[in-house]
Amino acid sequence: MPEDTKPEFPKNFLWGASTSAHQVEGGNHNQWTVWELSHATQLAKKAQKNYGWLQNWDKIKLRAQNPENYISGKGIDHYNRYQEDFGFLGKLNLNAFRFGIEWSRIEPEEGVWDEAEIEHYRRYITELKKRDIEPVLNIWHWTMPVWFTDKGGFKYSANLKYFDRFVQRIGTEYAHQLKYIITLNEPNNYASISYQIGRWPPQEKNALSMLRVYWNLVRAHRRSYKILKNIKPELQIGIAAQLANIQAKHPHNILDELSTKVMRYFWNWWFLRRIRKQQDFVGFNYYFTDYYTAMFKRSSPKTPVNDLGWYMEPEGLYPLLLRIWSRYKKPIIITENGVADEADEYRRWWIEETIVAMERALSEGVKITGYFHWSLLDNFEWAEGWWPKFGLVEVDRQNGMKRTIRPSAKWFAERIRKLSAPN
Ligand code: BGC
Repeated sequence: MPEDTKPEFPKNFLWGASTSAHQVEGGNHNQWTVWELSHATQLAKKAQKNYGWLQNWDKIKLRAQNPENYISGKGIDHYNRYQEDFGFLGKLNLNAFRFGIEWSRIEPEEGVWDEAEIEHYRRYITELKKRDIEPVLNIWHWTMPVWFTDKGGFKYSANLKYFDRFVQRIGTEYAHQLKYIITLNEPNNYASISYQIGRWPPQEKNALSMLRVYWNLVRAHRRSYKILKNIKPELQIGIAAQLANIQAKHPHNILDELSTKVMRYFWNWWFLRRIRKQQDFVGFNYYFTDYYTAMFKRSSPKTPVNDLGWYMEPEGLYPLLLRIWSRYKKPIIITENGVADEADEYRRWWIEETIVAMERALSEGVKITGYFHWSLLDNFEWAEGWWPKFGLVEVDRQNGMKRTIRPSAKWFAERIRKLSAPN
C-alpha cells in the first residue's frame, strides 16, 4: 500500500513484541534446563548432521559445535535487566509486550509458593504499565517445574489440578492489572515435537502420548479459561496457536489437495475448534507457509530461507488471516511472527510484507487487533540454542550482553509511527 494512503490499522491496534521467560531470563531451573545440561554435549556432536546442510553453516559452525551453545544458563539476563529492555519498547514505538512467567520460579516445590518471585513479576507488570505498554501475560510456554514433569506433566489428566492451582494463583495475583492473558503457547508444536518426533524433552516418540498431551492441553486451556473468567470476567483470554499457511504443491492434484486438507485440519484447526467457546480472541504465531504433496510430505521451495533453513513467505499470512476470520469471527491477534536473520538481511522485507498482508486482510473486513513481533531481543532458541537470532534488538552475550537495535527495527519503528499517526 502506498505510504500516503490512509492506513487501515485501527487506532488502538497493539503493536508489540514477544518473548518467553525461559528464552530470556537466565538462572532458571526447570525440566528444560535439566535436559539442556544432560544433552548439550550430544547436541554439539550432532550439529554437523543437523545443520551442516544450511547455507550459513560456515558462519555458525563454531557456535553450533560448542556444547555451551545448548545451555540457556544466564540467558540474556532479562530477569535483572528488564527495565533496560522495556526501554527498547518505547524506542521502537511499540505499545504492547507479550511475556512469560516462569512456573518453576513461582512454585519451585509442589504447593510451595515463592513470594519474592511473585513480587518480581508484579513489579515487572507494574513497570510495563508505568510506561504505557499493554502487558500480555503468557502463562505456559513449554517450561515446567521439575516436580510437575517428574509426575508425567501433561501426559496425565490427574496432573491438571496442579496447573489449575497455578493458574488460579496467577489470576489472583495479577489479573487486576491485566486486560489480556494467553494461557498456552503452541500446544500443537509442543505435543508433536516433545512426544511424537522426540526432539524436545521428554523426547518420547509415541503417538498415543502425543494425543494424550494434546487432549490434556485442550482441557488445561478450557479449565484455565473458567478459572480466570471467575476472577475477572472482562479479561480477554486466548492461546498462541502455531498456524501455518498450508497449501497444495500442485493445486490440481487430488492427492496433494487431500493431504493439504488433512494437514490444515489437524495442524491448524483441531485445537482451536475444541476451544472455540473458550477464547475471546484467536491468537496465533505465524512463521510458515508449507507446500504439501500426497502422503503428507512437505515440499516447500528451497529459497528464500532464513538462517534456520525455514522457507520464508511472509505474505502467506494473508490467506491464513482470511481462513481464521471466516471460521471464528473473533478478533485476531498475531502473537508471534519473525525471522532468524543474524545479518538482518531479510527482516525488513519480512515485516514490510507482513504489514501489507495485514492491510489487505483489514481492508476486507478481517478484525485484526494486534501484531507481536518475535522477538524483542535475541534469545535462547530451544534445541538450537543461541546461534539463531530473532531479535529486533541484537544481544552480544560475549560482550557484557550488550544490546543494539538492528537497522530493520529502526525502520519498523518508523513504519509504526506513520501507521499510528492521526489522519
Ligand atoms: C515459539 C518460540 C520460538 C519461535 C522461533 C515459536 O514456535 O513460540 O518460543 O523461539 O517459534 O522458533
